[in-house]
Amino acid sequence: MNKVRVGILGLGRWGMCHLEAYSSLGQAEVVAICDSSPERLERAGLEYGIVNLYLNADDLLQRNDIDLISVVTFESQHLEPTLKALRSGKHVLVEKPVTTRPDEARAMQAAAADSGRLLLPGHLLRFDPRYAAIKEAVQSNRVGTPVSMYMKRSREHYLFDTFQRVHTVFELMIHDIDLAIWYAGCRVRSVKAYGKSVSGAASPEVLWANLEFENGALAVLHSNWMTPDEAGVEIADAIEVIGQSGTAHFETSNSGLQIWNSGGRLTPDMNIHTKLHGQSVGCLREQLTYICRCISRGEDPTVISFADAVHGVEVADAIAASCATGREIVLEETVTK
Ligand SMILES: NC(=O)c1ccc[n+]([C@@H]2O[C@H](COP(=O)([O-])OP(=O)(O)OC[C@H]3O[C@@H](n4cnc5c(N)ncnc54)[C@H](O)[C@@H]3O)[C@@H](O)[C@H]2O)c1
Repeated sequence: MNKVRVGILGLGRWGMCHLEAYSSLGQAEVVAICDSSPERLERAGLEYGIVNLYLNADDLLQRNDIDLISVVTFESQHLEPTLKALRSGKHVLVEKPVTTRPDEARAMQAAAADSGRLLLPGHLLRFDPRYAAIKEAVQSNRVGTPVSMYMKRSREHYLFDTFQRVHTVFELMIHDIDLAIWYAGCRVRSVKAYGKSVSGAASPEVLWANLEFENGALAVLHSNWMTPDEAGVEIADAIEVIGQSGTAHFETSNSGLQIWNSGGRLTPDMNIHTKLHGQSVGCLREQLTYICRCISRGEDPTVISFADAVHGVEVADAIAASCATGREIVLEETVTK
């Protein structure tokens, strides 16, 4: 099987995780990387032995030896590189949130259809074995069609300094919106959301959203940036899916590993992306493996769906609007605005 040749746009915190994960895959080769910061670019090139370094995405996209582009730039800057990459004939993995605007999400989807290339949303929790097992239990009727879903995502407070750059719905809750759409298997009809800005920032540190799906399923999603830094708990998430024939749940505030030292206590996350003997492990790696396999076999992905991601952005947009206005939003209203 030929290796999938990869280019990465954006080498910040998460772009470096992409670089690390691709570099430990036998079926991928990172051919070229790009970041507008010369220091970051040079450091990444040196660390991973990559010689094709670009400060400008357009220059990288002119190469004709790249199959797949990872777009890992800021949340508000996914549209242009995604459209250009598709038009230059590359498949594209675009990080979550695929964009913060429904019109942009639909423009990306249309560009992918025109180009005939794959457009893949970075909703990596579909590749976490626990979330995937819930989907299987829904489909096999061990849990069955969801009636009620609860999903919580809590992150350490210091991260809010950076991630208040977009509304919490696009940074954290978008993961759960995607999972809820995946499990329910249908569109959201209406949302009512409540945001609490503790510090006075434009984005709320605490966000609750009630969703009603077109098939009648209900979901309550709760995201917050309120875990005290001193607690050392990187991820404190939880899920419960009550279906017509059973219930599935788990919570992740304890990965099983605790490190105690003079700096305090740390409970690191071991599921999203970490290193094991110099190799990347976690659901990021599983997602990239799946995408590379689809590309090298010429198969359409069945586990991830850009149509679901577009709907996820519509739902997120409605949640932000509900927070701002205090009103319930019926989704068609936002779709046609
Ligand atoms: N799937 C996940 O679980 C997950 C986790 C973390 C972050 N993310 C997502 O990944 C994306 C990046 O997040 P981050 O934390 O790495 O951000 P970051 O701010 O650390 O890095 C962004 C990088 O992109 C570069 N950049 C921005 N615009 C560019 C352009 N036009 N051309 C070239 N380089 C450009 C910046 O210089 C910076 O190095 C966001 O969409 C974020 O939400 C996803």
